Amino acid sequence: MKPVKNLTPEEAQSELDALIHQINAADAAYYQDDAPVISDAAYDSLRRRLALIERAFPKLKRADSPTVRVGTTPSTAFEKLGHSQAMLSLDNAFDRTDVADFIARVRRFLKLEEEEALELTSEPKIDGLSLSLRYEKGVLKSGATRGDGRVGENVTANVLTIQDIPKEISPEFDILEVRGEVYMSPADFQRLNETLSSMGESPAANPRNAAAGSLRQIDPAITASRPLRFFAHGWGEVSEPLAETCFEAMRRIESIGFAVTPLLRIGLGVDDLISAYDEIETARASLEYDIDGVVYKVNRLDYQKRLGFVARSPRWAIAHKFPAEQATTILEDIDIQVGRTGALTPVARLRPVTVGGVVVSNATLHNEDEIDRKDIRIGDEVVVQRAGDVIPQIVEAHKEKRRRGAKRYRMPDVCPACGSAAVREVNPKTGKKDVVKRCTGGLICPAQAVERLKHFVSRKALDIDGLGEKQIAALFEDNTIREPADVFTLRARQESGEIDLYTYKKTSDGDIAMKDGSPVATNKKSISNLFAAIDARREPTLDRFINALGMRHVGETTARLFAAHFQTFEAFAKAADTAQDLESDAYKDFLAIDGVGELVAAGAIQFFREPHNREAVDRLLAEVSPTRAEAPSTAESPVSGKTVVFTGTLETMTRDEAKAQAGSLGAKVVGSVSAKTDYLIAGASAGSKRAKAEALGVEILTETEWRALIDDHR
Ligand code: IVH
Repeated sequence: MKPVKNLTPEEAQSELDALIHQINAADAAYYQDDAPVISDAAYDSLRRRLALIERAFPKLKRADSPTVRVGTTPSTAFEKLGHSQAMLSLDNAFDRTDVADFIARVRRFLKLEEEEALELTSEPKIDGLSLSLRYEKGVLKSGATRGDGRVGENVTANVLTIQDIPKEISPEFDILEVRGEVYMSPADFQRLNETLSSMGESPAANPRNAAAGSLRQIDPAITASRPLRFFAHGWGEVSEPLAETCFEAMRRIESIGFAVTPLLRIGLGVDDLISAYDEIETARASLEYDIDGVVYKVNRLDYQKRLGFVARSPRWAIAHKFPAEQATTILEDIDIQVGRTGALTPVARLRPVTVGGVVVSNATLHNEDEIDRKDIRIGDEVVVQRAGDVIPQIVEAHKEKRRRGAKRYRMPDVCPACGSAAVREVNPKTGKKDVVKRCTGGLICPAQAVERLKHFVSRKALDIDGLGEKQIAALFEDNTIREPADVFTLRARQESGEIDLYTYKKTSDGDIAMKDGSPVATNKKSISNLFAAIDARREPTLDRFINALGMRHVGETTARLFAAHFQTFEAFAKAADTAQDLESDAYKDFLAIDGVGELVAAGAIQFFREPHNREAVDRLLAEVSPTRAEAPSTAESPVSGKTVVFTGTLETMTRDEAKAQAGSLGAKVVGSVSAKTDYLIAGASAGSKRAKAEALGVEILTETEWRALIDDHR
């Protein structure tokens, strides 16, 4: 695309007309049909380009330009309802510079001196449908959609069916208009779509459209059956001021009985706003509503009043949008990855594309059934989605664009790494085939072996600094490390001249790695650091040690249970050995451990049944000595039976120590916050878990409060 400054007036005119046409079509699809035709990101970029052209060629600006109006004219199905105060839209910011510009603009407008502080609030931008609720003397009189900003649709009958919306409030205001977003939670959206599909009706594209479609039903009984919810984020006409600041006004609206985001914050400069943005972005995946950015508002209402509006948006607020999370690209190939337990995972190799600000070239395809269900074929144009930190996924293939003759994908019947048969095991309980195909090669499969080694040194297992996935892959490939014990004999082998680690290249983080398969020299320091890091792990805690062995179905949590129960590795190994006999007391003893079921027990027992594993463990035990675990305290503690989650950086102990201690006091330590969580212990820079706990009303303790709680029992 040509930079705007290089356009001739003729080119500018024709592009401007085309843009307005596209924006109008997109608006109609979005607002009237609740069926968007382009992504939010694409829409935003059309608007941005239009605004740039209008700025460069002010004479060409049309009176009916989308940049001077909001939304579109209301659909005809509902009665029209004028807004006593316009419902406006928000200007967008896409990066830090835009946010800094916004603050500078506001300060300039208000003529603030450098030393005068400017408070701004931040809060999530909810991806719903705006609604204005009018209360007269405490009674809900009407509900209206935004429409074109001046006139909306009268959806009062439908609004009356939404539980989150109070029908009556305290009559302290003669007139109070509360504004906010109607939304549907992604979980409710999914359930609704399942119901709609089962009734042969077409499902909604996303929660926002489902909410819009549900609110704009002609029959209020249908709206009533839909799980709609409401968040207040502002107000319209009020007969008397709510407060002096935006923050306090929202607190007041909350106290009147409306749901208000728990993520509302006050900040001062651009740094504060960006850190609020980061906090909200981190929380995004765990929220029960879709959000598409963060809204910043000037906190002082007298300032807001002075700032006023320009065209379609207030000068006192801006929406800092998240980068687009979906993109279209080509599925170039499907590779098979073999995991630590032999699971074959199909991985999409994509033509690189930017999704949510990150270049994506791989995506998970989960398993055979998933590929079949979505009918994804090599060569297809596909929609890739990235949400938060999760691995990118393929949402769908554009089947209408598929080349003729494209074949359905079939998973291989043999392991690509070792050639052993790959099978879908039948679950003995359900009699159903497992969705996952597994390599039957076990110990002879090099792919499984290398994945097990990566797990062995990983952070949650032995946590060896400087020995990551890259290094393991390189050292495995040239036979330097083939089994766990080899990690601990590296120093001796280097010193005896059996191997030469100096032939490895130094990477930017000072670790060792291979360069294109050709070994090159590294320095003494990085290797002596590595040896020190390895030596520091010669006495691992028993739970880490058990976890590191990578038995099937035995992860961090179950390893901890085993460690607490058996206390020494010898006791654990002996029990697993004796428990081969499923009639034995040893087996019953296994199952008696709280949290250990048949699957986990089988994982441990099968591991010890394999002579190769025992030999490898014996060689490892010649190098390392796992420490004795503490006996679980049987005394009642204030936290026994409580479900707790740790998050953030703790000061007086590591998170693992804290978890182990909580476990020994009878608490159930879990990884994620839910409504069942009793306490969240939040250390420094706690992020999404804290936000989620706040949203769910889970009690949040500081590290000090937690220690005080368990003090007498330690
Ligand atoms: S404040 C003058 N705060 O986004 C408009 N709006 O693009 C002030 N929205 O129509 C709006 N979450 O419906 C505000 N936390 C939030 C919001 C929010 C979603 C919607 C709102 C508005 C649209 C603007």
